[in-house]
Amino acid sequence: MGERYTDATYGDSVAEIYDERILGPFEEDTADAVAFLEGLAGGGPALELGIGTGRVALPLAETGIEVHGIDASEAMVERLVAKPGGSELRVSVGSFADFSLEPRFSLIYLVFNTFFGLLTQAEQVSCFEAVARHLTPDGVFAMQAFVPDVTRFDAHNQRVSVESVDVDQVTLETSSHDPFAQRTDSQTVIIRDGSVRLYPVRIRYAYVSELDLMARIAGLTLRERWSDWHRSSYPSRGWTHISVWTPATS
Ligand SMILES: C[S@@+](CC[C@H](N)C(=O)[O-])C[C@H]1O[C@@H](n2cnc3c(N)ncnc32)[C@H](O)[C@@H]1O
Repeated sequence: MGERYTDATYGDSVAEIYDERILGPFEEDTADAVAFLEGLAGGGPALELGIGTGRVALPLAETGIEVHGIDASEAMVERLVAKPGGSELRVSVGSFADFSLEPRFSLIYLVFNTFFGLLTQAEQVSCFEAVARHLTPDGVFAMQAFVPDVTRFDAHNQRVSVESVDVDQVTLETSSHDPFAQRTDSQTVIIRDGSVRLYPVRIRYAYVSELDLMARIAGLTLRERWSDWHRSSYPSRGWTHISVWTPATS
């Protein structure tokens, strides 16, 4: 109760179940993401912000691109490093709100709504600025994120949904929403006979208009925006966007 939520909290708590819950269901998304990002990387090097257990970074590295990563969670990075090829990636532990690395990258990317893990507008702008400093002049910044849909929450700005009901386990998603701060505080609650596990995640969401403004503040400009990795036109009925910004001068 009352434990502090830090940049590492989400990754540290979810690491034990992340691959089991995520890798299988998102196999197709991962393959599509890798094909899209490989095409953007122009040979690399590439940098993934919030690299996690390497879902996208490892297959991207297998295409021959040099992949670097940043992640706040040592528990996630430990799992990445233990995988085949994981120790060959250059991973720093820290926040991607601001960072300073030696190389310049032809591709910097964030997938899976990971950008929204930065909980204030100031941190999100700072991230765009750090990205801009680390791109080659013709480099690109790619982001996969959801399009906010505040109708998901009830009149009290809450939401409880059932993810699964099995004979021996129930999984619930619970959220509270602060529309003024564009914040949601959520917990995945896994109830098994005799035990309850909580997996907290907090985000600050942003609409694409605000992301474009952050990009502009950082000296980047929108190059393309799609609804999915197959370059379906945006907007669509899906609630995802894939945006690609590039230095305004390129
Ligand atoms: C949803 S996971 C995505 C992991 C991986 N990119 C994937 O697609 O499977 C988000 C990752 O971002 C990391 N993360 C969240 N906030 C962060 C921050 N401020 N700085 C660095 N990493 C952060 C978490 O530790 C976690 O590994």
